[in-house]
Amino acid sequence: MGKAYIFDHPLIQHKVSLMRMKETTTKEFRELATEVAMLMGFEMTRDLPMKEVEIETPICKAKVNMLDGEDITIIPILRAGLGFVDGMLALVPNAKVGHIGLERDEETSLPREYYCKMPKDLDKRKIFVVDPMLATGGSAIAAIDFIKERGGKDIVFMCLIAAPEGLTRLMNLHKDVDVYVAALDDRLNEKNYIIPGLGDAGDRLFGTMK
Ligand code: PRP
Ligand code: URA
Repeated sequence: MGKAYIFDHPLIQHKVSLMRMKETTTKEFRELATEVAMLMGFEMTRDLPMKEVEIETPICKAKVNMLDGEDITIIPILRAGLGFVDGMLALVPNAKVGHIGLERDEETSLPREYYCKMPKDLDKRKIFVVDPMLATGGSAIAAIDFIKERGGKDIVFMCLIAAPEGLTRLMNLHKDVDVYVAALDDRLNEKNYIIPGLGDAGDRLFGTMK
């Protein structure tokens, strides 16, 4: 069974609380998403692959450890997952980025795929699937199904806010995937929005509120 890591770090909790506030502007929301991605990413990258390289300090030659960044892949679920890409790339600048476009049908809440572009050799990569919201879990499950069909094996999922229903469903269906969550909320409402949540993450990130 994969593990679920719920972050209780004060900086992460504070920033997520700011993101929840309805008066937080699109600009602030984007900046906060990047900051939270960096704070969560710091912990999530604890086991990243390293390679030994030979360098020269001002004193002598030395063998040192550096990130094997080419093997790391970030896959945002469009649109809202894009909000985490800059923060992750600030930590791992050589990572590759795949994109998967999924949109929830407003009536059925089922995800519909509309775009996909992945780097090759997914089977050799450490893959971070990122999306701010895990509500019913449908989008995350579909994205990970899709990545596995293309060979992805070493996958973790990162989100800002999860509903208990979606977290349980994701962990039951993808038992090999660890899940990193900044906040675990109370429940879903009748429209499958997270309560208390932050509203529609894509709209808040891109300023497309109706
Ligand atoms: C949101 C969110 C997730 C999904 C979560 O995307 O970013 O992808 O809903 O819901 P689920 O767990 O019930 O599948 P949405 O479909 O609204 O698309 P958007 O990012 O383009 O706004
Ligand atoms: N998608 C969102 O953006 N917010 C929710 O609360 C649920 C799904």
